[in-house]
Amino acid sequence: MSDKQLKNEIEKRRTFAIISHPDAGKTTLTEKFLLYGGAINLAGSVKGKATARHAVSDWMEIEKERGISVTSSVLQFNYGGFCINILDTPGHQDFSEDTYRTLMAADSAVMVIDAAKGVEPQTRKLFKVCAMRKIPVFTFMNKLDRDARDPFELLDDIENELGIPTCPMNWPIGSGKEFKGVYDRQDECVIVYSDTQKGTKEGHAERIPLSDEDALQKALGESAFSKLMEDVEILDGAGSSFDQEEVDAGMLSPVFFGSALTNFGVEIFLQYFLKMTTTPLPRKADIGLIDPVSNDFSAFVFKIQANMNKAHRDRIAFMRICSGKFTAGMEVWHMQGDKEMRLSAPQQMMASERHIVDEAYAGDIIGVFDPGIFSIGDTVCTAGNKFAYEGIPTFAPEHFARVRQMDTMKRKQFVKGITQIAQEGAIQIFREMNTGLEEIIVGVVGVLQFEVLKYRLENEYNVEIRMDTLPYEHIRWIKDTGIDPEKITGTSDMKKVVDMKDRPLLLFVNSWSIGMTLDRNEGLELEEFSRN
Ligand code: G4P
Repeated sequence: MSDKQLKNEIEKRRTFAIISHPDAGKTTLTEKFLLYGGAINLAGSVKGKATARHAVSDWMEIEKERGISVTSSVLQFNYGGFCINILDTPGHQDFSEDTYRTLMAADSAVMVIDAAKGVEPQTRKLFKVCAMRKIPVFTFMNKLDRDARDPFELLDDIENELGIPTCPMNWPIGSGKEFKGVYDRQDECVIVYSDTQKGTKEGHAERIPLSDEDALQKALGESAFSKLMEDVEILDGAGSSFDQEEVDAGMLSPVFFGSALTNFGVEIFLQYFLKMTTTPLPRKADIGLIDPVSNDFSAFVFKIQANMNKAHRDRIAFMRICSGKFTAGMEVWHMQGDKEMRLSAPQQMMASERHIVDEAYAGDIIGVFDPGIFSIGDTVCTAGNKFAYEGIPTFAPEHFARVRQMDTMKRKQFVKGITQIAQEGAIQIFREMNTGLEEIIVGVVGVLQFEVLKYRLENEYNVEIRMDTLPYEHIRWIKDTGIDPEKITGTSDMKKVVDMKDRPLLLFVNSWSIGMTLDRNEGLELEEFSRN
């Protein structure tokens, strides 16, 4: 393959995550993207919602059988000359640290917001992770076919709640039964939608230039027309103007209005988004920034999926390729293991099924068979060009429980099991400062992980446990500013713990006591993420 072909392959890739609060419409929007990409024929296939066809992971089936779902799947499809990788960030009950880690593998994010609700708690959490990485965030304001909040108010909500300026790229004309279409601000055209059959892409859209007032009045009706004219004047006079550099730096969020369910505004969103979002980004490593367009293959592990089948203890390590080209069976250098290895059974999620991949490029995600050697954040590269990517941060858990084994004779298996599960990154374990592992405190991002832990300890390690939930909701790493953790004084309900790497942390019942503790201890700095 020539250098030019390699560059083309890499530069046509767009790898992004879709983030939202449950029920905002992430699945529906993903489905419509796949529909436009020709990857599925019928909407409703994703997650086997309306039809029996399953567009996503068969691992999910296994998880479903067990009543838990832990997978973030990756969907790949082509559209308009681009090769698109969508990273699904699990929401609902399966919200976990994996949801955050998946964002480490994305180059940008689409944030779906329910226009009747505005910014919701999960949107806020996921946005924070995107903001930490300064990746571009594009907003799709969804469900305009239902009565929505005032669009100006929705923009204010994003700016106030998330602290990012917005730039509306299109503007809705009415909402609910009165939803007529959107005004494309760059093109200065109004796109009027006729009825679109649910789940198909055959809907009729008519473009009318804003300057053609007669045609617009006819299409929209007098009152919608004058409201639009008023809005356009306000928009042009106020608000941030589009600036690609600010978008690239994650400092401005372009906003699109539409309705994923009825297809209104979905395809123009996709088209604009693909033009504005980034090609695979260079990544930080210990030798500096690594250019994705390179002859040297490299990738990092962002997620490890334990095999749910008891008979097979193997795991799948999900890797984001950051530079070069991957070919099946290639020899790679595993930095953390300090040895050469062959990546066996690489798999990639296509829209409809799991494939064995022959080749993949920077920007793509592959899942490789892991006999238990990989950890989250590990780097694989070529033996000729060795380096390690920056680690993946540990995210603050939000739910805590004290865990003990029921049978004291099984102490060894218990510690082994819980430590291994923590190493896979499914849970985090802590102990009280100055004690041994007698009392283990488990922290998780999503409560379902407690059940996963219990199930796995019972089934894989034959250990029954007792779990007592603790009232803590916040955990903070203590930044090393010379303060002695032992001397920190806080509220009476604060607890001092250490993590697996002996780093000191504080547990708090509410955010008020975080503030109190910061006030009482001069020079104390607390962090919500911890770099590994
Ligand atoms: P999620 O992945 O973000 O959790 O949301 P999902 O797409 O599953 O959508 C949640 C619900 O909102 C679904 O309804 C879906 O049909 C509906 N929805 C999504 N986009 C739109 C939209 O643009 N307009 C309207 N009116 N509804 C929308 P459901 O009744 O929970 O599920 P279903 O039975 O329709 O599948």
